[in-house]
Amino acid sequence: MNYDYERNTRKFYQNDETAQRYHAMFMSPKGWRNFPSRVVARRECRAIEDLLTRVPHRTALDLPAGTGKLAAIFAALGTRVVASDISASMLKLAEAEYTRAGCEGATFRVEDATDLANFHDDSFDVVVCLRLMHRVPSALRKRMLGEFSRVAPYTIVSFGIENGFHRARRGVRAAVFGGGRDALCFCSVAQACAELSPEFDVLSRVWIAPALSQEMVFLLRSKAC
Ligand SMILES: C[S@@+](CC[C@H](N)C(=O)[O-])C[C@H]1O[C@@H](n2cnc3c(N)ncnc32)[C@H](O)[C@@H]1O
Repeated sequence: MNYDYERNTRKFYQNDETAQRYHAMFMSPKGWRNFPSRVVARRECRAIEDLLTRVPHRTALDLPAGTGKLAAIFAALGTRVVASDISASMLKLAEAEYTRAGCEGATFRVEDATDLANFHDDSFDVVVCLRLMHRVPSALRKRMLGEFSRVAPYTIVSFGIENGFHRARRGVRAAVFGGGRDALCFCSVAQACAELSPEFDVLSRVWIAPALSQEMVFLLRSKAC
């Protein structure tokens, strides 16, 4: 199966059943098969919290918020959050998660990361974009990054990094568990930096869990600020 952003990402999460399944995979404390996903989710939260503490901020755009993985982090930091996603089904679960976490003042809006015209320049102190770029083709990614740099002086964004180890890991996983070994929209660190450089200075970059996940998180400052 060839990867298609429209079908496999933009529309894929736009139903309640998929949203529930996604939520269970990362957030449910049960099920051995989901154990690696839960470990990765915990490490993502720790990395984002660490980077957020380095950014002077009171407000944040959590985009895509998914089912609210970062709610507890924002609640602990006292950040005022707008949680957005293109999927109303995902956002419904995010709202429950933000409420459970006690994240006061959070608001929820269906938005498309390629066009944030509903937000004026510098609406937020920071944008957090976790687990989207590796599912988005490069040209569209650049549009999203342009929007992030317009609406906030700082952005924290994860990319999926490709290398030989992860190609082999995907092959083994597909052989053991079945399913595809699609490369999604992974790129090298050099390509990620090249895509970021027109809009941002890279302040820091960290692997989430290099043996389990291809995600690298970048802390960025907009060149416009
Ligand atoms: C893999 S999930 C990641 C969600 C969350 N950040 C997390 O780490 O759990 C990808 C999310 O991106 C959302 N998405 C896809 N295309 C989008 C777009 N153009 N604008 C906003 N959200 C989008 C999907 O609806 C889905 O919730």
